Amino acid sequence: MIKQAIIPLAGLGTRLLPLTSVFAKELLPINGKPGIEYILDECIESGIKEIIFIISKKKEMIKRYFYNDQFYKKIIKRKKDPRVIKEYQKILRYKKMIKFVYQNKPLGTGDAVLKTKRYIKDKYFLMLLPDDLIIKNNCSKSMIKIHNKYRSSVMASMKVSKKNVSRWGIYKLKKKLEKNNFTIDSVIEKPSIREAPSNKAVIGRYILPKTIFNKLQKQRPGKGGEIHITDAIQSLINENEKFIAHNFLGKYLDCGTIKGYINSSSEIAKL
Ligand code: UTP
Repeated sequence: MIKQAIIPLAGLGTRLLPLTSVFAKELLPINGKPGIEYILDECIESGIKEIIFIISKKKEMIKRYFYNDQFYKKIIKRKKDPRVIKEYQKILRYKKMIKFVYQNKPLGTGDAVLKTKRYIKDKYFLMLLPDDLIIKNNCSKSMIKIHNKYRSSVMASMKVSKKNVSRWGIYKLKKKLEKNNFTIDSVIEKPSIREAPSNKAVIGRYILPKTIFNKLQKQRPGKGGEIHITDAIQSLINENEKFIAHNFLGKYLDCGTIKGYINSSSEIAKL
């Protein structure tokens, strides 16, 4: 069973500057609710019991969002506003599930994942990238079902336009397992159009084996000088770890760019 999820939140968010010069992008409201809460709700609904946030000193605002008890208690005592009481109860529910670990230098997603090594208990865990919202269908829940069936690693996948392949991890398909699920032959981080083995991208949901930590410990920096989770995944594939690409059914919203972020609010408002 997949009971733990990790969420890397220690990146700089340069594509959302100037907002991110003072604000954690994951707290920016999307249709009135912080982006990170959609991710937390997806985890809870898919049966996750513990969530590890990887933050940095610069992003302690995220921790404060969940640890503002004195403030809430004072306001509730004074105003007894049922809306605030409900919001505080929700925050408390989230808080109970969240652990914080630190990555103070943004050396890459792979390095961020490595920071959670000593907290992961089971053979497999879920990772969600908070910029990637998937609405209308719980992607993590579907992936956990696939994991339970095949007992293997799983990644969310989507076709992207050829000219944009260099924004993603792109994979080469090995074999069709069933509708929407395929085994992966290889994966490459942010390839050029020429290097890209396909236009099938890995989107920010992963079920990863604990053995990935052994790879990450030895991992050298890759594209752009960062330690990428994709490179560690490729090392595992080289050793015959089975990775399944799952073409998810929901709608993908990229909240990591200004254009995508603005669009995500109007898409969610339509639901
Ligand atoms: P990205 O590279 O897509 O986002 O990382 P970023 O670094 O936050 O933003 P840009 O590219 O500068 O605009 C994907 C996810 O991994 C986290 C980020 O917080 C984001 O959620 N991350 C990235 C880390 O936690 N640590 C890192 O060293 C790098």
